[in-house]
Amino acid sequence: MKITEQIKLPIAQEMDLFEEKFPEAMSSKVALLNKITHYIVNRKGKQMRPMFVFLTAKMLANGIINERTYRGASVIELIHTATLVHDDVVDDSNKRRGFFSINALWKNKIAVLVGDFLLSKGLLLSIDNNDFDLLKIISVAVREMSEGELLQIEKARRLDITEDVYYEIIRQKTATLIAACCSLGACSVAPKDTEGIEKMRKFGELIGMAFQIKDDLFDYTEDAIGKPTGIDIKEQKMTLPMIYTLNQCNPKEKSWLINSIKNHNKDKKRVAEVIRFVKDQNGLAYAEQKMIEFQQKALNILQDFPDSAYKEALELMVNYVIKRKK
Ligand code: IPE
Ligand code: IPE
Ligand code: MG
Ligand code: MG
Repeated sequence: MKITEQIKLPIAQEMDLFEEKFPEAMSSKVALLNKITHYIVNRKGKQMRPMFVFLTAKMLANGIINERTYRGASVIELIHTATLVHDDVVDDSNKRRGFFSINALWKNKIAVLVGDFLLSKGLLLSIDNNDFDLLKIISVAVREMSEGELLQIEKARRLDITEDVYYEIIRQKTATLIAACCSLGACSVAPKDTEGIEKMRKFGELIGMAFQIKDDLFDYTEDAIGKPTGIDIKEQKMTLPMIYTLNQCNPKEKSWLINSIKNHNKDKKRVAEVIRFVKDQNGLAYAEQKMIEFQQKALNILQDFPDSAYKEALELMVNYVIKRKK
């Protein structure tokens, strides 16, 4: 059995129901919006965030979840979808989930508005049902994600960016939403269990860090992951493999590397040489090692909880985050 199928076993019913409810959560009276949201729903992603919500909730409540958990899962996936639509505008990326991105098909103007629409639909789903505790968790994540994207624009093109700034960027832009999945999952079933909620938030944050390092590693591969690879160098975005390599190589290599990134980042052959160099300097191996450190810290937190099928599935999730092929 595939690892994803194994993870979904204890939440199969919940995921089925989620898939039924999620498209409704996007509906609109505007025909153009419906056309675009249909396009999005028909090209679904890995749905890891709702899986985190359900598994966390079920682990904390011995399998008994409620409507709040379902709504929380939909809100998070709506927010995630909104940020992807916006992200492809920001990154000028024409592919997502193996198909053309919204900006590639309908242009930036429409993509920005569709992203805003999805974001507001998410927030309203919480508000209309008085899920204010969940709304707070989600709103903090939304704020941090925007700050993270802007911090990235401010800092990630600087060739002297430090590892710590990189970690702060990925914590804000990616890890906070996965942290929100897990704290929301916990809060949906046990709103008074502040300790459990905080533990799960930290768990999600740590595995979210590993998740983004994995995503940044994909950029150095030529694998068919359903979105463009090699675009970080093209956009002069410094990620962990490059940050490590810049700190590692000798001055001569460093000036070649800097010159390549600054002046030849659209030259395919030169970019391939840069990728080769990063590999040879163990930039990828280093990033992998850091990814595993975050993953292990996440696993350690899970050990505070009693054994259950849900905990086991979460452990599998933690492994899937770093082993996944897309
Ligand atoms: C992509 O997230 C955005 C990042 C935070 C790297 P996913 O890889 O979970 O995207 P989908 O939903 O499966 O397409
Ligand atoms: C992650 O950013 C997406 C968000 C946090 C919005 P990236 O730009 O690194 O993600 P991909 O690789 O395009 O999915
Ligand atoms: Mg981006
Ligand atoms: Mg992107």
